[in-house]
This record gives sequence, C-alpha cells and structure tokens, in this order.
Amino acid sequence: MKVQGWRLTGGIFLLLLVMTAVIFGIQTGEDAVRTLLRSTARCSLLLFLLAFSAASLYQLFPRPLTSWLRANRRYLGVSFALSHTWHLLALGALALWYPHPFVDKLTTVGLAGGGLAYVFIYAMTLTSFAAPRQWLGPRGWQRLHTFGSWYLWLIFLQSYLPRALKDPFYIPFVTLLLVVPVLRLARARRRQNAAV
Ligand code: HEM
Repeated sequence: MKVQGWRLTGGIFLLLLVMTAVIFGIQTGEDAVRTLLRSTARCSLLLFLLAFSAASLYQLFPRPLTSWLRANRRYLGVSFALSHTWHLLALGALALWYPHPFVDKLTTVGLAGGGLAYVFIYAMTLTSFAAPRQWLGPRGWQRLHTFGSWYLWLIFLQSYLPRALKDPFYIPFVTLLLVVPVLRLARARRRQNAAV
C-alpha cells in the first residue's frame, strides 16, 4: 500500500522525532542544537521543493510517481510546516540555553524577514483546510499560496546562496532551488502552447 495523505505526514513527523533523538544521541549541548537547526532546514527545503514543484512535475512528466506527488502535495506542505516548526523550536532552545553569540547576532531585518516567513507558513497551512480556504475564496487563496511560496523560496535562496559561495557542499541545495523557476516556466509555456 502506498503511503499517502495524513499517514505520509505522520510518517514524516516520526522521522523528525527519530532524527532529533539520533542527533542528541551522538552530540550534546550547543552543537546538537545547531545540528538540529541545520537538519530541520534541510528537511524543510526538500519537503517545500516537492510540494512547490509537484504540479509542474506532473504536467511536464506525467508518471505514477509525479501523480503521487501531485496528489500528496498538501500533505507534503503540511509536513514542511511541521519540519519548520521544529526549526522554530530549535531556535527557541538555542536562544534559551545558548544565547551567546546567537542572540547578539540577531538583527531586526533578519527577525522580521524570518518572522514573516513563519506567518506565511502558518497562513498557508491553515488555509489548506476546507473552511478557512472557503472563507478566503479561490482568488485570495491563489494569491496567498503563490506569493507565500515565492517568498519562502527567496528566504531559502538567501540562506543557502552565501553558504554555497563559501562551501561547495551547499551547491546542490542552490541548484535544486534554481530548478523550480525553470520547471514553472516550462509548465507555463506548455500551457500556452496547448491553448493556441
Ligand atoms: C527569525 C527566524 C529564524 C532564525 C532566527 C533562524 C536562525 C537560524 C540559525 C541560527 C541557523 C543555524 C546556523 C548554524 O549553526 O549553522 C539557521 C539555519 C538555517 N535556516 Fe533558519 N532561522 C529562521 C527562520 C528560517 C526560515 C523561515 C527559513 C526558510 C524558509 C530558514 C532557513 C534556514 C536555512 C536554509 C538554514 C541553513 C541550514 C544549513 O546550513 O544547511 N530559517 N537558521
């Protein structure tokens, strides 16, 4: 039986718990919290990219796997919100247990940019449920999800691009991020051609 729907989200949540236990099993103190921050950010990136590109991937490559992706994009999106809530909890732990130098380096712009990203994450998650989605209406929903997704994409890019310039390890992360606009452009072209 294929894993899908809420079972998929539940499975990903369990994996997050296991990952956290493994990290705290092999590391301690600030190192463990920072490893958790980096790991949750990487899980979030993967889940976000899968949810954000599912429809384009299906239109461009209609196969059972992309059909599964498209059918489960909502659950991948909710899993992304869960993973990033873990990122937020790890941030809380860092601020509380190891405030220096973390808190000293925080800037208003950074906090506002990251804070707004969380507003989008939770607004998009909430409106993935039927009643809030209806309340927002199709146009409002489309605007929120399109703008919110691109904003999150930008935050990921501005986090990974400076790292990739210093460390080649991060180049695949940036490459994956840059594939998204290419896919969406290709999808838009295909739609345009089909309409002519
Ligand atoms: C105010 C909110 C946020 C703060 C204060 C914050 C802070 C941090 C910190 C301290 C790290 C770990 C640095 C290290 O030890 O290497 C980190 C990593 C990261 N965060 Fe956040 N974060 C916030 C929100 C976000 C959001 C909203 C996103 C994406 C949508 C994000 C994406 C990342 C990424 C991509 C990494 C790098 C992971 C890696 O090195 O592989 N963060 N963040």
